[in-house]
Amino acid sequence: MSDTLVNITNPEAELPGNIQLDPARSGYGEDGESPTTRRAFLVGAGCATAAYAAALAYPVYRYLASPIETAMNATAVKEVTLKDAQKLPMGSVMMFKFGPSPAMLIHHLDGKWVAFTAVCTHLGCTVQYEAGPDRIHCACHGGVYNSQTGANVSGPPPKPLLAYKVAVNDADVQISRA
Ligand code: FES
Repeated sequence: MSDTLVNITNPEAELPGNIQLDPARSGYGEDGESPTTRRAFLVGAGCATAAYAAALAYPVYRYLASPIETAMNATAVKEVTLKDAQKLPMGSVMMFKFGPSPAMLIHHLDGKWVAFTAVCTHLGCTVQYEAGPDRIHCACHGGVYNSQTGANVSGPPPKPLLAYKVAVNDADVQISRA
């Protein structure tokens, strides 16, 4: 072994002969740690912490923002056109989306057309038209609505269903806010 070799992996180690390590020139601090390594570690730890915080914060942001976004989308839509819906047989229903919300178009046996939101006014479940008893029913807690007017007639729903205006044309049915 030559006396010119320097132990750079362990500056504390005893060196052969009278060779001295100069910490300033060896790349190691007084504590024996490489400043480059420490800096890289701190930058990496900072990036990892920021990424972790973002990963935690994003779902919270989505949770808080989604009702606001849904409400904004719901109010942004003023009208929908249902192609060929004028062919809907009497006594039947067509489900569709009015913006982000489910809705229903009912063609009654007496020829009357009505459309309502299909979102229950109790806790927001999707309601269904039942042709047999001619009612709109919410299976979640047994809420019942009048299928002609959307009025809440029994069960827990506190308000009527939101009604839309219906215009039946030759090639489509237009549904718009009442
Ligand atoms: S959510 Fe419809 S009755 Fe409760």
